[in-house]
Amino acid sequence: MNICVLSCSLHPQSRSYVLARQAEENLEKLGVGVKFFDLREYEMDFCGRPGARNLPVVDELKTEILEASAVLVSVPIYNFYANAVAKNVIELTGRSWIYKVVGFMCAAGGEASYMSIMNIANSLMLDFRCLIVPRFVYALGDAFGNDREPDMFVQDESILDRLNELTEMTVKLAQAVDPVIDDLPERKGRV
Ligand SMILES: Cc1cc2nc3c(=O)[nH]c(=O)nc-3n(C[C@H](O)[C@H](O)[C@H](O)COP(=O)(O)O)c2cc1C
Repeated sequence: MNICVLSCSLHPQSRSYVLARQAEENLEKLGVGVKFFDLREYEMDFCGRPGARNLPVVDELKTEILEASAVLVSVPIYNFYANAVAKNVIELTGRSWIYKVVGFMCAAGGEASYMSIMNIANSLMLDFRCLIVPRFVYALGDAFGNDREPDMFVQDESILDRLNELTEMTVKLAQAVDPVIDDLPERKGRV
């Protein structure tokens, strides 16, 4: 099994990146192959600009998402929504998400934006029939040790527990779902 982790923040000392790296570590401990994409390292154009979908990086991401059993998306919450980078990457990679098991990790500034991930969850369910992991991680700044420093880490035990639950649940769901959806013609880009 192979799981993609997309880290969608472009902040140089990103908290959601730290969540994503912790999830990667958890998955590796569970014996799962992980493909980690730190989107700070990718030059992508906005979806809609001519040629934006034809960049090699988009092809690479599409292939990796298509081949993955699940995708974990780690996002900053901006304006009560996942940031524009996360939305853009979904717009660019489109149908590779069909029937994918998808889980979320969010870094936010306050508790009030707790449900902000639901817009993206809804659109993935409706547009691409994704199976959303019914357990997501939502962390504020005080969950991190050495916050916004290069050696930042997740220090809050409840967030670490939550990350364990997310990664374990994602693997279990992907194991259960893989044999079912592999037979569907919409998978693996067959239609
Ligand atoms: C433009 C902008 C908008 C933001 N909007 C929200 C928001 O609506 N709700 C919230 O809780 N935090 C908001 N924040 C705070 C970020 O979610 C917080 O700084 C988070 O740690 C960012 O994730 P990152 O460290 O991975 O980049 C906003 C920050 C910025 C820069």
